[in-house]
Amino acid sequence: MTTPVKVGIVGAGFAAAFHLRCYHQVQGVPVEVAAIVDINKDRAEDLARRHGVSKVFDDFRYVLEDKSISVIDLVVPNSLHLPMVLDGAKAGKHIICEKPLTGFFGQGEPEEKVGTIAKRKMFQKVREDLQTVSKVMSSHPVKFCYAENWVHAPAFKKALELMEKCFATGSILEMRAEEAHSGSHSEFAKWWRYSGGGALARLGAHPLASGLFLKHFEGEKKHGRPILAKEVWADGTDLTKTPAFTGAKGSPLVTGWGDVETWAQITVTFTDGSKGTFFAADDLLGGMESNMDVRLSNARIKFDLGPVRVCQFYTVDPAPVKDVYFNEKQETKAGLSFPNPHEEWLLGYPHEIQDFMEAIAFDRQPLTGLELAKQVVEVLYAGYVSMEEGRKVSLL
Ligand SMILES: NC(=O)c1ccc[n+]([C@@H]2O[C@H](COP(=O)([O-])OP(=O)(O)OC[C@H]3O[C@@H](n4cnc5c(N)ncnc54)[C@H](O)[C@@H]3O)[C@@H](O)[C@H]2O)c1
Repeated sequence: MTTPVKVGIVGAGFAAAFHLRCYHQVQGVPVEVAAIVDINKDRAEDLARRHGVSKVFDDFRYVLEDKSISVIDLVVPNSLHLPMVLDGAKAGKHIICEKPLTGFFGQGEPEEKVGTIAKRKMFQKVREDLQTVSKVMSSHPVKFCYAENWVHAPAFKKALELMEKCFATGSILEMRAEEAHSGSHSEFAKWWRYSGGGALARLGAHPLASGLFLKHFEGEKKHGRPILAKEVWADGTDLTKTPAFTGAKGSPLVTGWGDVETWAQITVTFTDGSKGTFFAADDLLGGMESNMDVRLSNARIKFDLGPVRVCQFYTVDPAPVKDVYFNEKQETKAGLSFPNPHEEWLLGYPHEIQDFMEAIAFDRQPLTGLELAKQVVEVLYAGYVSMEEGRKVSLL
C-alpha cells in the first residue's frame, strides 16, 4: 500500500497533540496528517510547525472541501462533535471522534442555565440525536471510529484475552472502575453548555465504555448477541460547593466549576442481572487514576492504565527536574514519585490510532465504533436522569 491515508485534525488543543504523536507511530499503513484546523489559528500553526503539517485552516469547512483529505479527526469541545460528525459523513469523510460522541448542550437557553434544564428533557433530546447519527451514518459509506482509548490499552487487551478464556466456564458478575484526577485543564469542562455534563460525561465515559464493551463482548462470545445495559442508578454533586470543601484553603484541586458535577457514581444493571459501578471524580490528588476490577464467577481481573511503578524518584527539592514530565495531573515532584516512562502507550492512545488507520485502510470495522459511542451517551444521560430524580432509570 503506497497511497497514504490523509487526515485532517480538527482542534489543536490537548487531545490534538497526543493524537498527532500517535499518527507518527502508525506502522504498516502510510499516514499523513495533511491539515490542522482550529478557530485559534495561531494554536493550529504552532502545532503544525512542530509536527511538519503543511496545511492550516481556521474553519472546519476547508477540510470538508479538501478532496485530498479522507479522514477527519475531531478533537474539539464536545458540543461540536455531533454537527461535525454529521457534516463530515455527508462530505464522505471517515470520522474519528473523541469521547463522548455527543450530549445535551442547550437549545437557545442562556449559557449558565443549560445545566439546570430537566435531565429527562436532555435524555429525550440526546436519544433523538443518536437516531439522527445512526440514520446519517447508515446512508454514507464511511467509517466511524470512537476514540475510547481504555478499550485499546494494553492492560485492557490483556484482561480481555484472559476473560475470553474464563468465559468457557464463568461469567462477569460485577465490575468496579474509576477515572479520577484533580480537575480538567479546560475552561470548557466547567460548563454544561460546552461539555454536556460534568465528571460523569468527561471522566466516567471511559470506565463506563469499558464496562459496556466487556458485557457486549461476553454476550457475543457466549450467545452470539450482546449483553446490554438494562437499568441505571446514579448520584453526583460538585464537591467543591459542599460544606465539606468550604473553607478548604490552598487546595490544589481545580475550583470555579459552573453548573456541572465534579463527583459521580453510576451503577448499571445488565440484561443478565450483572452489575457495573463506575466512578468519576475531580477530587483526586497525586495524579490520574484509571483502573478496573472485574469479578467473574471463576476469576478476578484487575488492571491499571496508570500510574505505574517501574521507575522511582525521590527528592526534597524538585527544582532541578521541573521541566521533566512525570505523570498526568501530578501536582508536585517533591517526595517519592513514580515517573511514567510510557504514559501514552499505557493509556492505549497509539493502539487506538493504529486500529483506526488499519480499519480505514483495509476496510474493516474499528474495535470501538458507533454502537459503543451511542450506548455510552444513552447510559450517561439515563444516569443524569437518575441523579436528578433520585430513582432507577430503565433503558429498555
Ligand atoms: N481520550 C482522552 O483521554 C481525552 C483526553 C482529553 C480530551 N479528550 C477529548 O478531546 C476533545 C478535545 O479536548 P481537549 O482537552 O483537547 O480540549 P482543548 O480545549 O485543549 O482543545 C480544543 C480545541 O478546539 C478548538 N476549537 C473550538 N471550536 C472549534 C471549531 N469550531 N473549529 C475548530 N477548532 C475549534 C479550540 O480552539 C481548542 O484549541 C474533547 O472531546 C475531550 O473530551 C479526550
